[in-house]
Amino acid sequence: MAGQRWVGKVAAAAVVALLLLSTALPGGARREPDVNNNGRSFVFNYTLTKAVVEYAAAVYMTDLTALYTWTCSRCNDLTRGFEMTCIIVDVQNCLQAFVGVDHNLNAIIVSIRGTQENSIQNWIKDLIWKQVKLNYPNMPNAKVHIGFYSSYNNTVLRPAITNAVRKARKLHGHSDVIVTGHSMGGALASFCALDLAMSFGSNNVHLMTFGQPRVGNAAFASYFAQYVPYTVRMTHERDIVPHLPPYFFFLPKLTYKHFPREVWEHEVDGNTTYQVCDGSGEDPNCCRWGAGACFDSALECVCAVLERF
Ligand SMILES: *[C@@H]1O[C@H](CO)[C@@H](O)[C@H](O)[C@H]1NC(C)=O
Ligand SMILES: *[C@@H]1O[C@H](CO)[C@@H](O)[C@H](O)[C@H]1NC(C)=O
Ligand SMILES: *[C@@H]1O[C@H](CO)[C@@H](O)[C@H](O)[C@H]1NC(C)=O
Repeated sequence: MAGQRWVGKVAAAAVVALLLLSTALPGGARREPDVNNNGRSFVFNYTLTKAVVEYAAAVYMTDLTALYTWTCSRCNDLTRGFEMTCIIVDVQNCLQAFVGVDHNLNAIIVSIRGTQENSIQNWIKDLIWKQVKLNYPNMPNAKVHIGFYSSYNNTVLRPAITNAVRKARKLHGHSDVIVTGHSMGGALASFCALDLAMSFGSNNVHLMTFGQPRVGNAAFASYFAQYVPYTVRMTHERDIVPHLPPYFFFLPKLTYKHFPREVWEHEVDGNTTYQVCDGSGEDPNCCRWGAGACFDSALECVCAVLERF
């Protein structure tokens, strides 16, 4: 069991390492990569993304002393000087998060790690269709994935993060909050960002997730776009998670839908490109166009591809 857990952590770390590697520039050159903005006004900030991915990766650390003192090998680069104010560990549910202040960005950072115990197969088997109503006012019909939402709403995460952010804002002025997470951590980060936007205002909360799954229905996605407009959902060419749970365009009311704004990282003739996707959340020319596009068209395909894992 302990061995399995360890393997899960290594696998997760490998995913993050891959993500980081794939964003590294050849030869370490600090050249801004190509951004394809489709002629739209949304601006993708590569420098900011490079810093935020360090926070999304650091929350996987199990050495809490290194995390607290911010002395991990990667904590030295763009996030040097980060001031940790709170580490939240939920052993029972295998969740971890931290809150602190990035004085360079003049922002409060919230980074969340989801559980690694449940594999993607388990999400599919047990939780894929189950949705629960959100009890925010002004969001009728919004439904979210019960497993992801419970992990945020019904654990220590929600009160502990809200308190830590409130304290940090008192101490450091009313700085912006940047919420981040990778994979299932990205799902929890989404709910956290929505919650903080409700408390502190939409203009003060930014969300940036890496390879997150879908978390709610179409109604939820459109409310989310309205309440957390500063959202960047990074996707990667070879990642399967953003295709789950599935979106069926012909059954939009019953299934899951991503919120915008996706930024799809992929290779074009050997060059890493960041494609800024359309405002729909489900741009057919982005991640959905890649290897996993078939996920969204037929359930049989979901099962067939999953069996290969
Ligand atoms: C991108 O983000 C960095 C770090 O916050 C900031 O210094 C820079 O001005 C931003 N660039 C643009 C074009 O907004
Ligand atoms: C979320 O948490 C609140 C407060 O603890 C609770 O009343 C509510 O039922 C929870 N929502 C869900 C969907 O679990
Ligand atoms: C890829 O990068 C190389 C070197 O910067 C450049 O010459 C080439 O045109 C790029 N290819 C594409 C498709 O952008």
